[in-house]
Amino acid sequence: MDKVTLTIDNIKVEVPKDYTILEAAKTVGIDIPTLCYLKDVNEVGACRVCLVEIEGARALQASCVHPVAEGMVVRTNSKKVRDARKSNVELILSNHNRECLTCDRNNKCELQSLAEQLGIREIPFEGKKIEAAIDDKSYSIVRDPSKCILCGRCVSTCRNVQKIGILDFVNRGFDTQVAPAFDKSMADSPCIYCGQCIVACPVAALREKDDIERVWDAIDNKDVHVVVQTAPAVRAA
Ligand code: FES
Repeated sequence: MDKVTLTIDNIKVEVPKDYTILEAAKTVGIDIPTLCYLKDVNEVGACRVCLVEIEGARALQASCVHPVAEGMVVRTNSKKVRDARKSNVELILSNHNRECLTCDRNNKCELQSLAEQLGIREIPFEGKKIEAAIDDKSYSIVRDPSKCILCGRCVSTCRNVQKIGILDFVNRGFDTQVAPAFDKSMADSPCIYCGQCIVACPVAALREKDDIERVWDAIDNKDVHVVVQTAPAVRAA
């Protein structure tokens, strides 16, 4: 395979010419932060967390989708790059439900880790937040739009890996959400509840319903079978 040689943070790197800058950096142990990127599943350059500086380019570029080129000179950790990444994460957080202490994913959240890594202590961009109801009608999956960062990882996983395709972007602009078509609930969609969207989600916009919630659902629906099945686990907890 044809190879190209480029320089990343003063290190000469030789990689196949179809590599992205992110992949090339990895080969020499340079870690560029990412958020929306899922290798071979979601490579869309949506979050702009992986920005890098390329000598001669007019703007910073998303390394997860930018191809390498012969003689390219890349900086992954300049002040300009760090400031831009920080601002982008602050903007994402400005429209994110930040009740981290009570969140299911506290300490296991990629956005939270990134904010810590970038030294974010407060959000300078306070403004309107998306208003959309939590979808907790199904027995298995809870969808919380107030935590969704629109990275598309669940959409690509549902469509390209699981070949189901029930999740997609709905509405436009500030009202954009990830939901089943026509903004239906997960319960009213052909979702098979494989749970892979939950695994792909970097935050807690999609999460597994816990046993207590399932018991309440079963009681509400007078589904005695589910109550009997679930009750021992609740007692054990
Ligand atoms: Fe590259 Fe999101 S990780 S743009």
